[in-house]
Amino acid sequence: MKRILAFSGSLSNSSINHQLVSLAAERIASIEVKTIRLSDFEAPLYTKELEAENGIPEPIKALRLLFDEADGFLISTPEYNSSIPAGFKNTMDWLSRMEGSIFQDKPILLMSATPGKRGGQSVLGHLSGILPFWGAKLVGTFSLPLFRENFSDDSLKESYNSELNTKLKDLESAISAG
Ligand SMILES: Cc1cc2nc3c(=O)[nH]c(=O)nc-3n(C[C@H](O)[C@H](O)[C@H](O)COP(=O)(O)O)c2cc1C
Repeated sequence: MKRILAFSGSLSNSSINHQLVSLAAERIASIEVKTIRLSDFEAPLYTKELEAENGIPEPIKALRLLFDEADGFLISTPEYNSSIPAGFKNTMDWLSRMEGSIFQDKPILLMSATPGKRGGQSVLGHLSGILPFWGAKLVGTFSLPLFRENFSDDSLKESYNSELNTKLKDLESAISAG
């Protein structure tokens, strides 16, 4: 069976992006989804000296195995100061020091949830521009603004609900075709 690796770009225990990625993961029926937290794969801030002295941190090696086993990715990232949170980027920087590209030509649905009105449009734009350089096949993006108004326990406000369902189907199709 094909497998999706799902995670948020947030290291917070109370992450709204983790809530969104968990809700989206539950809606995928045809593909097994493994949902993880990047905070369980902690690594120091990357420096070439650390890498030369200690090599790749063990948690990053474990994460690399999960990336290798996945056929596609479901990611929801916070926006920090209009861009990518440092913890998420640091994890990707470490992964990029191992063999192969980070995402190995696999499909990704990229999402962002914010408490504010812009729904992470800036970080979605940044990542859409650079994900191809990280070896990702971007299938689509999904933006959820005003999280508290638009998200409740197991649902989203209707227009977001149907948009998310369509984009999840696109991800499933891209993975099944691969
Ligand atoms: C350092 C910092 C910078 C932030 N910058 C932005 C921003 O540029 N745009 C935005 O919409 N929200 C911004 N926020 C608010 C986050 O969207 C909010 O904290 C959100 O809950 C983070 O996602 P998480 O709950 O998944 O960790 C920022 C928050 C922090 C702590």
